[in-house]
Amino acid sequence: MIKVDGISKQFGKVKAVDAISFEVQEQENLILLGTSGCGKTTTLKMINRLIEPTAGNIYINNKNIFEQQPEVLRRSIGYVLQNNGLFPHYTVAENIAIVPQLLKWDKKKTESRTAELMEKLHLDKSYLHVYTGELSGGQQQRIGLARALISDPPVLLMDEPFGSLDNVTRSNIHKEFKALDELKRKTIIMVTHDVQEAFELGDRICLMDKGKIVQSGTPAELLFNPVNEFVKGFLKDQRLQLEFKAVKLHDLWELLPQLLKKTEGRSLSSVIDIWTALESFKFSGEESISIINHEGDQKQVSFEQLMAAFYQYKNKQGHE
Ligand SMILES: Nc1ncnc2c1ncn2[C@@H]1O[C@H](COP(=O)(O)OP(=O)(O)OP(=O)(O)O)[C@@H](O)[C@H]1O
Ligand SMILES: [Mg+2]
Repeated sequence: MIKVDGISKQFGKVKAVDAISFEVQEQENLILLGTSGCGKTTTLKMINRLIEPTAGNIYINNKNIFEQQPEVLRRSIGYVLQNNGLFPHYTVAENIAIVPQLLKWDKKKTESRTAELMEKLHLDKSYLHVYTGELSGGQQQRIGLARALISDPPVLLMDEPFGSLDNVTRSNIHKEFKALDELKRKTIIMVTHDVQEAFELGDRICLMDKGKIVQSGTPAELLFNPVNEFVKGFLKDQRLQLEFKAVKLHDLWELLPQLLKKTEGRSLSSVIDIWTALESFKFSGEESISIINHEGDQKQVSFEQLMAAFYQYKNKQGHE
């Protein structure tokens, strides 16, 4: 759906982005990951033409974006700014209504869509007339997201959307983010410097350094088949946790024991990752969990069986 083709941006002598290319499929969540100053924000801003590139092309739905009016292009792209970019002296309602005003929506339509999003994002409607500068970081991030989602654009660009949150708040918002139906339908490019976040939320990751993409692939590809020492080094902290997040239950399916009896209760879908499965052991306190795959087959596994299958899988990766 989005094709970035050899895009570069030079600021004076600084090559902020250096001939990078990548593609994003429809409804995919692509992460631009990298340390401060590697060119993530610049890349994102070239996609909605807030920054014009020095070289290269970008296509959205096979249309060259440089042949479109920037204002028209931006109507189909939601944008969540780094540090949320809300106007602190506007109320929540006014901040969310910026795009509807540009689109000349009538008041009723804006109000009902705002109310719908506030509910979906768990924001109490009593906040509507509060200045955003008076809200907590987490609330501000949700409002930034509501503002970007209001016109239901097919593409969403998010620049460190959870950047200023503490770890607990961040992990709660990640869960909501994954569950939000509005986001499942969207093609998303998200910037972060947080490896754990990239592994939790990304279908694929572009790892950047000094304006270039060092490696792009699924979290598991980066982890188990790194192209060089830089990639290895980038992923070395809390590696086990990254592995739990990168490996899905269906990757282990063949390695899990056969089910003996069918269970009645709720089953976990095999698309979830090991980390989430481990959390469900922790929260449910059960001896074993039931897993169901896309063909409707069920398996019942204990914590020990899950861990054994995971280590078997991991050993296999090392030898490929
Ligand atoms: N308007 C500008 N003028 C000059 N140099 C710029 C400009 N914008 C960015 N740069 C430089 O380009 C490089 C990439 O910046 P960019 O903001 O894209 O990095 P980033 O990966 O988003 O970093 P961070 O994680 O800190 O947000 C940096 O060296 C930065 O100083
Ligand atoms: Mg940035």
